[in-house]
Amino acid sequence: MVIMTTTSSLAFQPVLERIAEEIERTPGRGRPADYIPALAACDPRRFGMAVAEPDGTVYGVGDWREPFSTQSLTKVFTLALGLAREGDELWEHVGREPSGNPFNSLVQLEYEGGIPRNPFINAGALVVTDRLHTRSGDASQELLEFLRAESANPGLDFDEEIAASEAAHGHRNAALAHFMASYGNIDNEVQVLLDQYFRQCSLTASCADLALATGFLARHGVRADGARLLTRSQAKQVNAVMLTCGTYDAAGEFAYRVGLPGKSGVGGGIIAVVPGRCTLCVWSPGLDEHGNSVAGVAALDRFTTLTGLSVF
Ligand code: DON
Repeated sequence: MVIMTTTSSLAFQPVLERIAEEIERTPGRGRPADYIPALAACDPRRFGMAVAEPDGTVYGVGDWREPFSTQSLTKVFTLALGLAREGDELWEHVGREPSGNPFNSLVQLEYEGGIPRNPFINAGALVVTDRLHTRSGDASQELLEFLRAESANPGLDFDEEIAASEAAHGHRNAALAHFMASYGNIDNEVQVLLDQYFRQCSLTASCADLALATGFLARHGVRADGARLLTRSQAKQVNAVMLTCGTYDAAGEFAYRVGLPGKSGVGGGIIAVVPGRCTLCVWSPGLDEHGNSVAGVAALDRFTTLTGLSVF
């Protein structure tokens, strides 16, 4: 049953409350990421969800104002900032096909000459951050300033403890970066790039912050202050790559269940876009075997079913 056929703003709040009640009653939340202690300690029963309209009106439920570790959600913003600075040349260094492999997989890189399949697997995100770093002088700072501005939250910051922990457990990311450097697909010193990437992953923000910060993708490339970050076509491209690659080897299932461009992170966050209409962020730290939040996917599935809002 679709309970929100008109897309009036006020109807979002009851939809969010209904979803939170349903999620509360649903057993089984998956397991928090355990590769670093700070994420392993998260309670899988936490749940928050926010919806932001293109004018910056934001609705939320549960732990929607609680900061959490954004992790791979940041890959959407670095891709957008990288495309804004570099344009199409970026696509000569990173592809845009689903990988069908886990986010931290190394296997395709050798067959494919050091060019990662897409910007959302770790290898591709490393290339994007590397190129953004070269062009901006400080990729993670550019990311932080963008998120602070778009969320209107100057308090957003990196979590230095998580960044240090990422570095201490970063062998696989280091292997990916060195391997791509051997193909000439990394500009900066590998250690400089890894420091930037681990800092980027440690950024902490709430569902409210992230739903707002993703707004430029619902506004077809236009930032909160009306300035254009991406062309309409580039915004469409970022949304398309989120749809096909944003949830890794579960992207087909996510498109089937949710029907929106979406991007997950191992902190348990997922951002999603209804172009022209709204942006969403949901957070619940328990993950499935692909690294996607179990309650997060379920909540987005219910949102598109209840509202009828989808790209399909
Ligand atoms: O680089 C890593 O492996 C983590 N810091 C981030 C990975 C991540 O969030 C993948 N997403 N599901």
